Amino acid sequence: MMRPATMIRSACLRNFSQSLRVGSAFLKSGDFCRYTSQAAASLQQVCEPSAYSDDESADHMDWDNLGFGLTPADYMYTMKCSNDYFEKGRLSRYGKIELSPSSGVLNYGQGLFEGMKAYRKEDGQLILFRPDQNATRLQTGAERMCMPSPSIDQFIDAVKQTALANKRWVPPPGKGSLYIRPLLVGSGPILGLAPAPEYTFLVFASPVGNYFKEGLAPLNLYVEDEFHRATPGGAGGVKAISNYAPVLKAISRAKNRGFSDVLYLDSVNKKNLEEVSSCNIFILKGNIISTPATSGTILAGITRKSIIEIASDYGFQVEERTIPVDELLEADEVFCTGTAVVVAPVGSITYRGKRIEFKTGAQSVCRELYSTLVGIQTGLIKDNKGWTFEIN
Ligand code: COI
Repeated sequence: MMRPATMIRSACLRNFSQSLRVGSAFLKSGDFCRYTSQAAASLQQVCEPSAYSDDESADHMDWDNLGFGLTPADYMYTMKCSNDYFEKGRLSRYGKIELSPSSGVLNYGQGLFEGMKAYRKEDGQLILFRPDQNATRLQTGAERMCMPSPSIDQFIDAVKQTALANKRWVPPPGKGSLYIRPLLVGSGPILGLAPAPEYTFLVFASPVGNYFKEGLAPLNLYVEDEFHRATPGGAGGVKAISNYAPVLKAISRAKNRGFSDVLYLDSVNKKNLEEVSSCNIFILKGNIISTPATSGTILAGITRKSIIEIASDYGFQVEERTIPVDELLEADEVFCTGTAVVVAPVGSITYRGKRIEFKTGAQSVCRELYSTLVGIQTGLIKDNKGWTFEIN
């Protein structure tokens, strides 16, 4: 079903393998930071290298009832940048950070984030999924937001260190994953509207289960035609922190009306599908799977990209194009994709008072794509694409 790994391995992935080797050597040297007091954590701390040892803090986790709430894992990673130079990053205990009241991120929203997951295999090894893609997307976003960005190797090394330092927070196989949240923010002080003079790259993590309270049950979406997520020429195509707070009002209104989440339309014609608040959208009709094209207002999701490839491998015709909302009337299935969301079935969409229902369940294409993706991500299905990387 899948193409040979050699065809899809990029230069980035070769760099990644190198960085894993470098990272392993680094980790084996015991160069981790260990603090006895959680309250002592701040960006000001100096990390003293010491042997890393587990504590008991994850022992009482109820792994069967993980949702998407924050359960901060023990360690976070911090790397600062001044004059376009990222200094050596370090791990410290998860805790509050010090930020200037006049920082670029607090005043002007100069910030980006990423979302990734580490899974635990039956043999105890941890797996990361396509971290090079997140690293590259952060670089694209940083360029748009006038920020310097870590190199691909620096990004992957930081993520790897964070995952390994928090290994005990990675749920047992089949129970969830460790959600890893890299952030790049303008942390330096600024008053006039300009790029900040200093940046902080930060990575923290939390064990998670299903994103939606519905679990794996079908979502009921509400099509929003008053609020929009992005505009042409804006920053909707990158993972800017400023893209997310503006949709909270639409989400809360939809939830108050009993819906799971919101499906946004384009802000120019107010008739074409864009994305859901935290994920991309796909529709299936016969053998054709369509998803809105990434033309600047839609996030180029890594799960979106992976599902496009998996669906193509299965023989579906996959189209990235403009999708008028009216096409929902004809769709057999609709589903959402995202790192947090994975692949979530949509049972209904309500638009201007009309509720349209879609096929879901064990025999759906959505379920098949979900199983394949999660199988690869968790190491249960052989990864012929070079998407997954074991770290130890
Ligand atoms: C992710 O899927 O990782 C995201 O960034 C979505 C976020 C709003 C939870």
